[in-house]
Amino acid sequence: MLKRYRIQFPQTDVGELSQDEVYFYLLNGQGEKTKIRLHEYERIYRIPGLYEQVVYDRLKCQSPSTVTDVLKYTLSQSDQRLNELRVLDLGAGNGMAGEELKKHGVSRLIGVDIIPEAREATERDRPGIYDAYYVMDLCALTSDEREEITSWSPECLISVAALGFGDIPAQAFLEAFNLIAQHGWVSFNIKETFLDRTDESGFSTLIRELIFSKYLDLYHLQRYRHRYSLEGEPLYYFALGGKKTAHVPAPFIESLQLPD
Ligand SMILES: C[S@@+](CC[C@H](N)C(=O)[O-])C[C@H]1O[C@@H](n2cnc3c(N)ncnc32)[C@H](O)[C@@H]1O
Repeated sequence: MLKRYRIQFPQTDVGELSQDEVYFYLLNGQGEKTKIRLHEYERIYRIPGLYEQVVYDRLKCQSPSTVTDVLKYTLSQSDQRLNELRVLDLGAGNGMAGEELKKHGVSRLIGVDIIPEAREATERDRPGIYDAYYVMDLCALTSDEREEITSWSPECLISVAALGFGDIPAQAFLEAFNLIAQHGWVSFNIKETFLDRTDESGFSTLIRELIFSKYLDLYHLQRYRHRYSLEGEPLYYFALGGKKTAHVPAPFIESLQLPD
């Protein structure tokens, strides 16, 4: 049973803040409060159960189950069975999405995250969920690291609540996309504005170009409430499922002119 904390969301209007700037207070019972940004994963993961309490209990995040359902629905349109898949979980965090996927059964589950605190929290709170969990920066993989991941022959990529917004950059996503098998499966979620042509950020450009490219066959696109904002407004995302048709070649990536 995870410990419960006293948490306070800011009274003032935080609506002006971007999604990676929003914060909450952690109260210690003696009148002291610590301000923590929702994206300060290192700090949050060090405190057992805090991420679950804020993001899942209070903000009602439903992305792990939605992305898993979308993957299942995608696979149901083929002969591929989920329990035979070797899955790479990009931005695995403290294992919430991995745990959800594992409930349905997969052949192998490999986690990757950029911060050691994510792996430590997973080992502490969800031991045994992953067959391997790597702390790596997918924007700067060494050839040994790349070989380590590919030694698992992953044939499915999932990424839950980890793409864009100062989290996983487009280059890292493309690296992961290219690490899975040529005809592998993908399922991930993105904020709804990422599909809007007026959003010209690197990630939006990548996602729009990829979805309509010859490198991915889109099987399923679902709009849903990812979670609530700190002000209680619903935040809508798309969960996407598809089949990779080919590795993305360097010229395509260069043509996107992604920021460094
Ligand atoms: C909002 S958390 C999501 C965690 C988990 N997927 C879940 O559903 O609860 C985003 C995660 O992405 C990780 N992340 C950010 N940038 C990354 C990168 N370049 N490579 C790998 N992981 C990254 C963060 O460390 C964090 O654990």
